[in-house]
Amino acid sequence: MIGKMQFKIVSLIVVALFYCVQSNAQNMQKGKKIYEAKCLACHQADGGGVPNMNAPLDAASNVVGKDIARLVRIIRYGYNERIALDGFYYSNAMTASPDLKDNEIADLLTYIRNSWSNKASVVTIAQVQAAKKKK
Ligand code: HEC
Repeated sequence: MIGKMQFKIVSLIVVALFYCVQSNAQNMQKGKKIYEAKCLACHQADGGGVPNMNAPLDAASNVVGKDIARLVRIIRYGYNERIALDGFYYSNAMTASPDLKDNEIADLLTYIRNSWSNKASVVTIAQVQAAKKKK
């Protein structure tokens, strides 16, 4: 038999877990909406990009990598470095999205890091803010 106190603690944990999972799912949903509005035209619905033109996001080592600050900068300021990405070059220039808020960038990065075949850590608002401080 579990006592009243244990039951309360267990209930609290269950509720906390539920909110964690739910808020995560919500971030993915919000991230997907932003992706469809601002990124899909170039990077495509399947994240595959367009050969030689727009880099793929699916199975891209940088996208699932540890350098969150770089990803935040790319989204805010755009990207036209013409350096090899996983061995390939892309001729298009990525437009900047300076209007996106910190929470929107976090949702968007969480979405692209966990869609298609990608599986990587969730990106938090705190990580986006830290990346902005770095410059
Ligand atoms: C106008 C087309 C275009 C749009 C719109 C666009 N991108 Fe890009 N994106 C590119 C191109 C082209 C590159 C590669 C540029 C280069 O190599 O110089 C790129 C590169 C990237 C990279 C780096 C990939 C790597 O392997 O390092 C990320 C991450 C990225 N885009 C995410 C996004 C997100 C998220 C959005 C929506 C906010 C977005 N892009 C909107 C064209 C676009």
